[in-house]
Amino acid sequence: MTDHSAAPKKLFIKTYGCQMNVYDSQRMAEAMGSEGYVLTENQAEADMVLLNTCHIREKAAEKLYSDLGRLKPLKAERPDLKIGVAGCVAQAEGEEIQRRMPLVDLVVGPQAYHRLPAMVRAGGGVDTEFPTEDKFEHLPKAAATRRAPAAFLTVQEGCDKFCAFCVVPYTRGAEVSRPASRILSEARDLVSRGVREITLLGQNVNGWHGEAPQGGEWGFGRLIRAIAEIDGLDRIRYTTSHPNDMADDLIDAHRDEPKLMPYLHLPVQSGSNRILKAMNRKHTVAEYLRLIERIREARPDILLTSDFIVGFPGETDQDHADTLDLVRRVGFGTAFSFKYSPRPGTPAYDRPLIDDAVADARLQELQALLSAQQKAAQESMVGRELSVLFEKPGRLEGQMVGKSDYLHAVFVAAPQARVGDLVRVRITHSAPNSLAGELLAA
Ligand code: 5AD
Ligand code: SF4
Repeated sequence: MTDHSAAPKKLFIKTYGCQMNVYDSQRMAEAMGSEGYVLTENQAEADMVLLNTCHIREKAAEKLYSDLGRLKPLKAERPDLKIGVAGCVAQAEGEEIQRRMPLVDLVVGPQAYHRLPAMVRAGGGVDTEFPTEDKFEHLPKAAATRRAPAAFLTVQEGCDKFCAFCVVPYTRGAEVSRPASRILSEARDLVSRGVREITLLGQNVNGWHGEAPQGGEWGFGRLIRAIAEIDGLDRIRYTTSHPNDMADDLIDAHRDEPKLMPYLHLPVQSGSNRILKAMNRKHTVAEYLRLIERIREARPDILLTSDFIVGFPGETDQDHADTLDLVRRVGFGTAFSFKYSPRPGTPAYDRPLIDDAVADARLQELQALLSAQQKAAQESMVGRELSVLFEKPGRLEGQMVGKSDYLHAVFVAAPQARVGDLVRVRITHSAPNSLAGELLAA
């Protein structure tokens, strides 16, 4: 039995990387809650520090080791401080982490974290298995505490696509879809705790295909329609999608389902067919552009975002020009662009790199174009009436900040409003990374 009579122990979690890690951190915090731990935002007072890591690029992985280095004095001062490493670096490097950093007590991979409470009770260990049991079914049930108005919900994990640059198939494992009934009950639980917006998560979220509640199989579009029937839920989003999994019923849902927000993150990575082939993306530029056309036919105002990798092995000036050309043709609301980082264990790892200065210059050029598109997209919102879900108070007195339908952060003077209010707003101003708006009468 766990002794809950003592003062609660404090858990500090630092999350790196993607939204799925944010979700996993929340689930780990809830699981540790059943062990008598409460979250703290102050690392210095923690009884346990958990670093939930990302392995996607070398820089992300290296952050772990510099943060662990910085924990050395704290651990020296308080040897009973527990230090844990979770997430994708834990999966990829396992015991190696403890060899390099002996101050680490436990290492737990993204598919084994339901075993975290038991590991903590045992005083530490390493678990990077891909267990056959479903971790979500084995996590202690969360207390029915109130939640922030916007929440994540993982519906699918892992990847079978094997893009030549990517560690995800190795760190997160094969593609697995959770059954619809479990997703629906988690969504209902979130809504009963105050959630009004749910972002469905998966590394290939639109590839979700799972057991339907009454037997048989559903695709992702059907799942979205079922979630949309939940009373009290106002908004649905999803991320991240693969172009080859944009099924017709999902595109139709963007036309027919008002709760599905007009925003789509659809990574393309490159605008050159040669490079797409070398990346093993299994789609061409023309196919991507045709897909965008069909999505825009279904939902003309949809805001599109994407991911790009520049400097992939073999990329020429012409390939790069083709990427800029694709960006100009689509017009993105915003996009993330990265310099290629060779990752151990991936097919592209041993391929000769292009000149680093050339890659840097291409990244800058692409980012300048993408920033200009972001600015234009934001400015096109000025004068429009949108809905905003307030997520927290703003910095100024009486101000609230929330997200628009298009996922822009919007600052609004609303002294009477509360977090969780969904209001109509007229956009008045565009700043570099946010919008400002005024409240419209309800
Ligand atoms: N190097 C650079 N960027 C990468 N990404 C994935 N793997 C790598 C890598 N090895 C980018 C892709 C992906 C996003 C999450 O990270 O653009 O869509
Ligand atoms: Fe990083 Fe990918 Fe792991 Fe998310 S799934 S934390 S992006 S390596």
